[in-house]
Amino acid sequence: MSLIYVLNGPNLNLLGKRQPHIYGRETLADVEVNCRLVALKFGHDVRFHQSNREYEIIDWIHEAREDAAGIVINPAAFTHTSVAILDALNAFDPPVIEVHISNVHKRETFRHHSFVSHRADGVIAGLGIEGYQLAIRRMASLITLPT
Ligand code: DQA
Repeated sequence: MSLIYVLNGPNLNLLGKRQPHIYGRETLADVEVNCRLVALKFGHDVRFHQSNREYEIIDWIHEAREDAAGIVINPAAFTHTSVAILDALNAFDPPVIEVHISNVHKRETFRHHSFVSHRADGVIAGLGIEGYQLAIRRMASLITLPT
């Protein structure tokens, strides 16, 4: 059994209440249940976190260096601003998959650039919260692939 970190950035605690026409009506608790179910199907475990504070996300990425087989991350607004999160991910060797609930490329131009994409092995955007399940599924493949 391997451990997959699922990290969520600012305002995602309001998922389900915040701009439901963009992000849907399901909550972050629903996302967590879905991630756990898919991971379990592949025999893996999930450590699930959300924070509105950049340093907490960085600390979890550092922690993941010790015990994670991969990171699925929706950095939310930090996607577009945080060189610090990119640097932390660059210090993490296993696979990284970036997830966005909305299609950031269809939205404002400031959402079109992602610092995290410079490191991510894969990016999912615009598939709603299903994107997380697909990311876990892909992570499970990457974990079992011979290196
Ligand atoms: C988001 C897209 C970001 O641009 C935005 O700041 C978010 C959520 C998404 O999941 O679609 O907070 O990462």
